Amino acid sequence: MAMALSSVQATLFSGASMLRRSDTLRTFTFCLPFSSMTSSVTTDNLSRKKWRRPVVSVLEFGGVKISREDVVRDDPTNNVPDTIFSKLGLQLHRRDQHPLGILKNAIYDYFDSNYANKFNKFDDLCPIVSVKENFDDVLVPEDHVSRSYNDTYYIDPQTVLRCHTSAHQAELLRRGYTHFLVTGDVYRRDSIDSTHYPVFHQMEGFRVFVPDEWEPSGMDATSYAAADLKKCLEGLARHLFGAVEMRWVDTYFPFTNPSFELEIYFNEKWLEVLGCGVTEQEILKRNGQPNNVAWAFGLGLERLAMVLFDIPDIRLFWSSDERFTSQFSKGQLGVKFKPFSKYPPCYKDMSFWISESFTENNLCEVVRSVAGDLVEEVKLIDNFTNKKGMTSHCYRIAYRSMERSLTDEEINDLQWKVRELAENKLKVTLR
Ligand code: DAH
Repeated sequence: MAMALSSVQATLFSGASMLRRSDTLRTFTFCLPFSSMTSSVTTDNLSRKKWRRPVVSVLEFGGVKISREDVVRDDPTNNVPDTIFSKLGLQLHRRDQHPLGILKNAIYDYFDSNYANKFNKFDDLCPIVSVKENFDDVLVPEDHVSRSYNDTYYIDPQTVLRCHTSAHQAELLRRGYTHFLVTGDVYRRDSIDSTHYPVFHQMEGFRVFVPDEWEPSGMDATSYAAADLKKCLEGLARHLFGAVEMRWVDTYFPFTNPSFELEIYFNEKWLEVLGCGVTEQEILKRNGQPNNVAWAFGLGLERLAMVLFDIPDIRLFWSSDERFTSQFSKGQLGVKFKPFSKYPPCYKDMSFWISESFTENNLCEVVRSVAGDLVEEVKLIDNFTNKKGMTSHCYRIAYRSMERSLTDEEINDLQWKVRELAENKLKVTLR
């Protein structure tokens, strides 16, 4: 549908999405055809090198105490590093002064005013979920790439850090909820650039209809739900962005049929902002709603917030620098972020012969375990295979702090540690 183009402007924004990863270097997508599973449990005894210690070591979710030892375990079936454990419980989306909290509240306002407070809201559900909840309950096939150790953080073979808020759909249905919004932090092993971070935030929406609702329309249940879903989300996009040009793209998710993505035209680019669809009947049948129909959506909060607030780098959401935090206040949607002076990046290249089990996500975990948020991007810049069949990769690592200038010495030190750890943990041969 063509609507007037918004005056809101976006900044640097790559086309890659948090909801669906489509470029070839990124493996995690619910939309990819099911490629064979790359289960490389080899990686992350990384966590054993304790470069950085988590701030808290015992967390509490709804009365349940979780200690570091429960989450970061010295076991090949565990791939959660300390850097990830340290993010558990921070719940940026529950801070009213934080861009993610401000955005969450603005979405709540939209639902409260359009649906007379009918939607139940959850923003404190524990991010540690079972494989059943994260994958089986939403019909993710056994061989789907998102189940791999390369893409998902496993605590043990049956327990993961949720990789999407869809992990809560089935349980909430079983508990009798029919209209709900679930906001939470989600975790994915991934490559590194200004729009990808291994922890980000999603909001899930879910609405069930009973036959009395669609029958008078003369439409079939699925078409009715799909039409209602699109109307709801178009309204939400206008509520957040003002008049904006948007389009629907057909796609695939295991849990919905039909499935769609909503794209918004922004700074001369189509930007994907959410995935959604009409819930698979099987999910409703298994969870106490056999005669009904439902729609669901999952939206990436960082992606929307980067556009709404002009935030150029996803690491900034985690910054406690006052020059960032002081720019946002409760209820103020779309105040434009004014970058405090941009510090220069420093690039370091690293070439090596890869091993059979090498993956880019594992390399990124190594780099993060050493450099934390000082790493801005890890990019493959050269890739060749010699006559003997050995493959060489060259990665360019960009180091940059959001908050200060880095010294040469500091960066060289980081780079040496990255090289050493890559050699030891990833079994690559440096060139
Ligand atoms: N869980 C999907 C993702 O993270 C997003 C999504 C798509 C959620 C469709 C839904 C849905 O509830 O119906 O990529």
